[in-house]
Amino acid sequence: MGTKSAALPGQVLADLRELDAQTGGEGGARRVAWTSNWERARALFAERAIGLGLTPERDRAGNIWVELRGESDSLLVLGSHLDSVPSGGWLDGALGVWAGLGVLEGFLRDRRRPQRSVAVVDWADEEGARFGRSLYGSSAFVGALEVDELAGLLDRDGQSAAEVLGAAGISFDSFEGADPRLERIAAYLELHIEQGPILAEAREPVASVTGTVGISRDCISFEGQSAHAGPTPMEGRADAFLAAAEVAVALEELARRSGGRATNGRLDLEPGIPTATAGRADLFTDLRHEDAEALEQMHVEAGRIAEAKASSRGIEVTKRKIWSIEPRAFDPRLVEAAREACVSSGGSDFTMPSGALHDAGELAPLVPTAMIFCASQRGLSHCPEEDSTEEDLECAIRAFDRLARTVAERSDLS
Ligand code: HGY
Ligand code: MN
Ligand code: MN
Repeated sequence: MGTKSAALPGQVLADLRELDAQTGGEGGARRVAWTSNWERARALFAERAIGLGLTPERDRAGNIWVELRGESDSLLVLGSHLDSVPSGGWLDGALGVWAGLGVLEGFLRDRRRPQRSVAVVDWADEEGARFGRSLYGSSAFVGALEVDELAGLLDRDGQSAAEVLGAAGISFDSFEGADPRLERIAAYLELHIEQGPILAEAREPVASVTGTVGISRDCISFEGQSAHAGPTPMEGRADAFLAAAEVAVALEELARRSGGRATNGRLDLEPGIPTATAGRADLFTDLRHEDAEALEQMHVEAGRIAEAKASSRGIEVTKRKIWSIEPRAFDPRLVEAAREACVSSGGSDFTMPSGALHDAGELAPLVPTAMIFCASQRGLSHCPEEDSTEEDLECAIRAFDRLARTVAERSDLS
């Protein structure tokens, strides 16, 4: 296996820039799942794969697969996602998909089949930006998707996931158990940007990742009384927004105390006009912790806080689960192989857990899994300012390529 024909970071970066030019730009990435811009991004990926002589395939959940046949049927999967949050960053998800294609391109230039077959997958709707349910495509693939829970989720316009996915040609009736391809998978690898400040502050370009964080995501609804902004005295109001606001602030304190994270990224108010108190407030909470028990405690405490704050204002409160996932650890041997790949590609032996969620978390309980992170400038992600230096990206792409080639050729690693 010659190292000369490894993935070319320059080609991967050129692909990423082209994707950004077509589906992003100044205001950030505009590739929310199930939109035409997302389809455009996926078409670009498929066109590039076809240009390499490969055949893209869509599975029952809408994930796109591109496979390079190896000497054996045993499959190494390289994956991430092309969908983005609204006004997202250019690298979140896209880096891993294009780097995966870069690995395949390197093998093709070798004109020699790898021992294992190697596939790149673009998981559908990783972000859950529209319906609140993250990791749709990878969870459907492994058979972990609660179809009824997903089907009933509504977007801001009141459209259900069942309607939107149905219009995209997806039939929930076909979701029986895991996708048959899972049986062939020997290992799963994902390259992603860190999305936080740890690597940038440590001045490290890359890291091997030990696992993904646990998450509890709910919608807490407060029911008060909508009333006129002028004549209604300040005393005796039942303002649902104020109860929600108090809860949001208390959750910030809870997260600090627990060593976790609490985010309230969405608040829907009714009637939602400046001249009336809110009769209803729907607060979306995203609680995270690396430790399953600590996350459970945070979740229970958040419920108590919501009850207490609502009752002190004479407001009804109900909680609806959107989704949850426990912390997931990666495979120790692959974490070590990823660390070695980082060291021999210009990085150090830095390892860290992920504070963000990744499709790798869905695969980890079922197949040996590992990830490599690339440093994020200023630790920013899920925003247009998200960026990484060219030097760090090149180091990360080289490290990922090295790791993928090692796992593709060595059967003792997975
Ligand atoms: O929410 C997450 O952590 C991921 O970026 N989708
Ligand atoms: Mn991502
Ligand atoms: Mn993301």
